[in-house]
Amino acid sequence: MVALVVTAAVFVILFVRIKSEASSTLTVMPFMADTSAFWMYYLSQAFGWSALLWAWGTVIIGLLLSGPRPARLPLSGPRLERLHRTTSLNTIALIVAHALLFAAELIYQDTDAWPSRVGTAVLETFIPGGYNSGTGVWAMPIGQAALYLAIPLGLLFYVRHRIGPKTWRVLHRFVLVVYILSVWHTLLYGTNVWYDGAFRNTVWLLQLPIAALFLLRLLRPARRSERLASAGAHRGSKAGWGLRLTGRVAAVAIIGVLVAVIASGRDGGRTVPPEDTSSTHVHDD
Ligand code: HEM
Repeated sequence: MVALVVTAAVFVILFVRIKSEASSTLTVMPFMADTSAFWMYYLSQAFGWSALLWAWGTVIIGLLLSGPRPARLPLSGPRLERLHRTTSLNTIALIVAHALLFAAELIYQDTDAWPSRVGTAVLETFIPGGYNSGTGVWAMPIGQAALYLAIPLGLLFYVRHRIGPKTWRVLHRFVLVVYILSVWHTLLYGTNVWYDGAFRNTVWLLQLPIAALFLLRLLRPARRSERLASAGAHRGSKAGWGLRLTGRVAAVAIIGVLVAVIASGRDGGRTVPPEDTSSTHVHDD
């Protein structure tokens, strides 16, 4: 419910920005100014943003569950766990809504016979490589990979007794890859964060708390056996110890890269074209 309210609020913001011609979506794709034709596209964008926000939140909660937790946190462990479960399920639903609205918009714009419209939309939305717009070559498969990995890595929780809790824990760690793919997809493809500016900077900045919590989670894991200096760690293999050390070094490196990107402003954003109204984003070929 909260997710839908947030999505609606984002939709209103995106819509108003389109109407007032402040939206960079219009700089990339001027034809998107027709609000009666493209409202589903803005709604898909809004679901993309709530999906990313929920993914961000659930990753933070997950890292608090598996790493150190501030003593003054008002939420108990079990409540935090429940919140992690519901926000994760919401994230998957929001991603699906984001993709389905994109497909719906393709169907709406198409003038072919119905079976062909639906077939093309499914191909372009859900099959990697199916959507060959100039800039979507990598961005689309990255988003699709995030969705397709999120489903098993999240939902395996419900069969954890069958696959074994340890296997579940090891596999579930890879949801961090889902999160990285989601952010990557957004920064590559989101037309609201296409250019250098406050929106794009905010997306980058929001990654700092995640990287910091990831480092803390590795330095002070909730599970004793994962600590570098614990008796369990010494009993474990040398390879395991090496892996844990590599993880910590990688986490520090990630924070370094994020700080460098944010401080230098070299964050992959394009420079806003001066008075160029020609589309750089081929939408429907
Ligand atoms: C089947 C999977 C996916 C498809 C087909 C898809 C499709 C798209 C498309 C076409 C855009 C460009 C919209 C624009 O013009 O701004 C986009 C942007 C975006 N996507 Fe996805 N996406 C998928 C997965 C994901 C996932 C997993 C997330 C995050 C959890 C996500 C979050 C976003 C966000 C935040 C934007 C930026 C929207 C904007 O700039 O307003 N997407 N996606």
